Amino acid sequence: MITLGIESSCDETGLALYCTERGLLAHALFSQVDLHALYGGVVPELASRDHVRRLVPLTRQVCREAAIELGDIDAVAYTAGPGLAGALLTGAMMARGLAWSLQCPALGVHHLEGHVLAPMLEPEAPEFPFVCLLVSGGHTQLIHVQAPGDYRLLGESIDDAAGEAFDKTAKMLGLSYPGGPALSKLAQSGNCEVVSLPRPMMDRADLDFSFSGLKTAAITRFKAFTDRTDVTDEELGQFKADLAAAFEQAVVDVLIGKSRRALRQTGLSRLVISGGVSANRQLREAADSLESEGMQVFYPRLEFCTDNGAMIALAGASRLQRGEKSDLAVSVKPRWPLESLMMGQ
Ligand code: KG4
Ligand code: ZN
Repeated sequence: MITLGIESSCDETGLALYCTERGLLAHALFSQVDLHALYGGVVPELASRDHVRRLVPLTRQVCREAAIELGDIDAVAYTAGPGLAGALLTGAMMARGLAWSLQCPALGVHHLEGHVLAPMLEPEAPEFPFVCLLVSGGHTQLIHVQAPGDYRLLGESIDDAAGEAFDKTAKMLGLSYPGGPALSKLAQSGNCEVVSLPRPMMDRADLDFSFSGLKTAAITRFKAFTDRTDVTDEELGQFKADLAAAFEQAVVDVLIGKSRRALRQTGLSRLVISGGVSANRQLREAADSLESEGMQVFYPRLEFCTDNGAMIALAGASRLQRGEKSDLAVSVKPRWPLESLMMGQ
C-alpha cells in the first residue's frame, strides 16, 4: 500500500510517499524559514498562502522521485492537527480533493503521533513499548508508547515548550528565527559554567516540566549584564555565548533527568527522542550517556526530527492498516491533545 503523506501544520510543507512493503519511497520538504525570518516568527496567513503554492509541485516531485504515477497512490494521510488552522486546512483540502479524484481513502493524522513514530522510519527502529520524549516548538511531553496508537501521557510542560523557550531566549540574544539551532550554534563557543541558571522542577518527583522560569532567568541575567556601562563588544559577545551554553545545558539536564525518571518509573529501557529539539547535539550527547545505564536511545534522522511529510505518511499508513477510516468531511483540529486518540476522539 502506497500512502502519500502531507504535512502543513506550521511553516514547513512536507510531502512523502511511504510503502508498507518497501518503506519510504520519496520525500520532499519546503521550509518557509526565510519567509517568516523577516518577522521573527511564523505569520499564519503567509504560511497558509505559501503551503498553497508548494503542495502540488512537491506532490509531483515525490511521484517523480519514486517513479510512480498519481494513480498508484492507495491512500492519502494529512496532518489534521494540532497546528495553525489555515495552514492545516490547505493540506486537508489537498488531501481530500486528491483522494476523491483517485477514489482512495484520506485520513487525518495527529501531528504528534507523526513525531512519536518518526524513528520507525529508520533501519534500527525501536521495538514497542518505549518511552517517548517529544520535544518540539509547541510541546514537551513524556509519553508511554505501548504500541502504535496506544499512548499514555506521563508528564508535560506546564508552560513553555522546550523549543519555544529556545526560540524566545534566542530572540532575546538577537539571534535569527528559528532560534533553537542558532542558539545551539552560539553555545558552542560559550562556557556553560560561567552563568548559573536553575533546573526547574527537577526536585519534584513528577514528570512535568516548566521552561518559562528558566527563560525569564536567562533574560534577567542578560539584562543585568547589558545594564552595565563598562562592557566591551567583545565581552558582550562572549557573555551571549556563555549564556546560550548555560541555557542549553539547563534544558538538556532537565530533559534527560526527567527522561531517566520516566524510564525508571515505567520499568522500560527504550527511550525515543523526537520533535524539532531532538536535533540538538548536546541533547543527543547527553542522551547517549543513558546507554551506559543499560538503556537504549533512538532518534529519527536529523531531517525527520523537525516537521516532515514522511512521519505523517508512516503514521497514516499504520492507522489505515489497523482498519481506521474517516468520513469525507474536511475537518482540522488546531487544538488536539494526543491522549484523546486513546479515547477515539
Ligand atoms: O517539531 P518542530 O519542527 O515543529 C513543531 O512541531 O513545533 O520543532 C521546531 C522547534 C523550534 O522551536 C526549533 O527552534 C527547535 O525545534 N529546534 C531546535 C533545534 N532544531 C530545531 N532546538 C534546539 N536545538 C536544535 N538543534
Ligand atoms: Zn512538529
